[in-house]
This record gives sequence, structure tokens and C-alpha cells, in this order.
Amino acid sequence: MFNKIRLWKKKPVSSNFQDRISALKMRQIPEHVAIIMDGNGRWAKKRTLPRIAGHHEGMKCVKRITAIANDLGIKVLTLYAFSTENWKRPKSEVDYILSLPEQFLSTFLPELIEKNVRVTAIGYTEGLPESTLNALNRAVEQTKHNTGLHLNFALNYGSRAEIIDAVKNVVKDSQTGKIEIDNLTEEVFSSYLMTEDIIEPDLLIRTSGEIRISNFMLWQIAYSELYFTNVLWPDFSELHLFEAIEEFQNRQRRFGGV
Ligand code: FPP
Repeated sequence: MFNKIRLWKKKPVSSNFQDRISALKMRQIPEHVAIIMDGNGRWAKKRTLPRIAGHHEGMKCVKRITAIANDLGIKVLTLYAFSTENWKRPKSEVDYILSLPEQFLSTFLPELIEKNVRVTAIGYTEGLPESTLNALNRAVEQTKHNTGLHLNFALNYGSRAEIIDAVKNVVKDSQTGKIEIDNLTEEVFSSYLMTEDIIEPDLLIRTSGEIRISNFMLWQIAYSELYFTNVLWPDFSELHLFEAIEEFQNRQRRFGGV
């Protein structure tokens, strides 16, 4: 197709770049990286472009970061694409953001399949456009047996709502005798969350200089390393991800021990 963006094939291949990847791989690569992709609006504003231009650029960044995460051997990449609070934005912006998974998958799914990537999503389906759900369901179905990078979109996701729903289901299951409330452990409770079959994030990155969590995976990030950068999401490059991983590798994770 004319002018089709195929970032996967165009990734930088300088020896310096490859050396950096090899050096990172010599140490522990975080198995699950979760990212709060923030700053699309400010990226657009700086260029006097409409906010949706920032979101479009943000989608291109998703392609770049997915490709490099796969090359690095990251097992799970969770991307916070739309929160349950994002409905407060103007309808035209909401509609545009919610059309992005379809745009992304319509150009990128063949490459995801070729690279053995598995696509999933967490979040609430209520309110999402039919076409977005169809595109996601198709991608989930077509990649369900892939064993490479697990690319997980958080779409219409909110952690407090997720926890409340989990509590309701625990209560229901205890009423029907499916679980004994005294046997409720952290592990059992985790299995009631949308991330039931996903390991907890080792590294949480938030772009754009905001130092907050914004209702993202509150339970799951209890022991994650947090990394905040001033870089706006559309400018977040492979090199920025390398820096985040290097910082992760230099931290000592003690999980409450000594
Ligand atoms: C936050 O930046 C960003 C969002 C709410 C949308 C994020 C969506 C993407 C990056 C694209 C997703 C792509 C796929 C394929 C699902 P903001 O708009 O709040 O930025 P601002 O704080 O600078 O205004």
C-alpha cells in the first residue's frame, strides 16, 4: 500500500543500537512492563495541532515500543490506552481514541502475527464501539496461540471498579459455597481481577512528567518499580525505553525483605 508505515521493518539497525540491546539482555529484563502513555495532548499543543493528532502520533509510538519490547524479550507489555475516567473528554476526542485500536490493528496485525505476538485487552466492554470490539476480538482470536510478546491493552479500564467487581464476585462465590472466605488469600483474590492470568508488572512507566498512577492496576503494582519521565508519549523512543530498563536493572528489589 502507498506510504504504508511499517515501523517494524524500519527499526534502526545500527551496531550501537544492537549493542545496547545485547547489553540490556545480559542483565534482568523486566518480564512485565506496564505503561501509562501520557502527553499526547501536550505534544499536539506544542505543534499547534489538534489533540487527536497527538493521539495519532501516540498510536505510532505504540507500534515502535511494541516492536522493541518484542526484540528485548519482554514477556508482557500492558498499555493504558483509555481509562474509565477518559469518558469525561469531548466526544470527538473519545471517539477518536476509541478508533485507534482498529486503526492500529488494521495496519499492524499481520506483523504482530508474523512476530508471534499475542494480543489481549482488559477493561470494560460497555460503551466501546462495535467496530473497536470486533477488531480487538479478531486480533485476540488470531493471536491466541502465539508465544512471543503478550501485548495487553487496558481499554476502558479502571482499577477501583475492577477491585470492587472482584470483591462482589468473591462475596457471591462465598455465598454459593464456591470459596471459603477464610481461604481468601492474595493469590486467590488476584484470580478475581481482570489480570487473573497475567504476572504483575515489574516496571511501571509513566510519560509526560505527571507523577501519579491515575487508577491504573492499583493492586497489581504493589511491588512494581515505578519510573517517571518528562518525555511526552509520542516522543518516547526505543532509547527512552532502554533508559527505563537500565534504571530498573540498577534498582534493588526487596519485596519487603532486606
Ligand atoms: C493521555 O494523554 C493519552 C490518552 C488518554 C490516550 C492514549 C492512547 C494512545 C497513546 C494510543 C493508543 C493506541 C492504541 C493502538 C490503543 P493526554 O491526552 O491526557 O495528554 P495530555 O495530558 O498532554 O493532554
